[in-house]
Amino acid sequence: MVKASAPGKVFLIGEHAVVYGEPAILSAVGARCFVEAEKSRDSNVSVKTSTDHNLEFSVEECREYARRLKEMWEECNKRTDFSEIINEFKKDWRNYYRVGIGFILEEFGIGEGVRIIIESRIPIGSGMGFSAAFSVASIKALSELFGKGLSQEEVNDLAYRIEKLNHGKPSGADNSTCTFGGLLWFQREEGKPVINSLREEITHRFDDFVIVNTGSPEMTTGELVQKVRNLREDYRTPRVKRLGELTLKMKKALKEKDMESVKEVLNEAQKNLTELGVSNRNLDKISENVMGIGGGAKLCGAGGGGIMLCYHEDKERLVKLIESLGFEIIEAELGSEGARIEG
Ligand code: MEV
Repeated sequence: MVKASAPGKVFLIGEHAVVYGEPAILSAVGARCFVEAEKSRDSNVSVKTSTDHNLEFSVEECREYARRLKEMWEECNKRTDFSEIINEFKKDWRNYYRVGIGFILEEFGIGEGVRIIIESRIPIGSGMGFSAAFSVASIKALSELFGKGLSQEEVNDLAYRIEKLNHGKPSGADNSTCTFGGLLWFQREEGKPVINSLREEITHRFDDFVIVNTGSPEMTTGELVQKVRNLREDYRTPRVKRLGELTLKMKKALKEKDMESVKEVLNEAQKNLTELGVSNRNLDKISENVMGIGGGAKLCGAGGGGIMLCYHEDKERLVKLIESLGFEIIEAELGSEGARIEG
């Protein structure tokens, strides 16, 4: 039996814009996804999910499904419309597990059955990177179980390929943060990811940020990314470019511990993301209220609900405000360690 884990993630800034080649800053979070894997005597894949569902597939069914989705992805890519892929998961949420494990077994050339147990503190579909953390932790666990000895770079590369089958054309920022952990600068340059740790430059802790659960998004990450892709280019581009500039401003502000600028960046990013159509009523309400007490807040990840990142120098006041609005705080420190084998 092997147990591996990967952290969840938050975007401090740059979601959506990162899909168009702009830079983003992300942090791994203390809420982790644990995956336990062992070989089984039959030729089945059994998955006990973190929400206590027991799924059972045959190895061949999973591998065949992964092959089919890879072909479907190529077709979608030609049309730059990933709706068909995204619908696979709308139709049946179990397909996330089927394709994830199927893809790994296919890559490793494994025909034996496996038993997988997932335990996760990352809320599913919330913008905190559950799908990426699950892929990364599963690759790490299965690579160890079958003696593949993958480097973190190879784990990250495979996780990105699974993320594409889940979401269409993601940036790769989520899986990179879940693999490498810490505080990252991420940008896709000419299709290649540039991933740099910011830990040397920004050494202080981020104790005063608050992560708020605003409720499950109605749309999936893939759908929200597609929604932005469907906007008119001359409307989308200036907003995406501005988000890129805000990432540079955020880096400087974090380095200088200039928290007034950090708040400005959060609020302006939220405004831009709202204009891109990925905010919702709860997110707007929290944003207005946090700004009302002089704080900063922005949605995190794909949006449409999910988590929100808030900051105010008086954290107690901020927490009281959020709770009075009826929302839950997720306790998770920022800057946590990347994927690892447990014990
Ligand atoms: C999803 O967590 C973040 C998005 O920017 C998509 C991506 O980066 O692939 C919305």
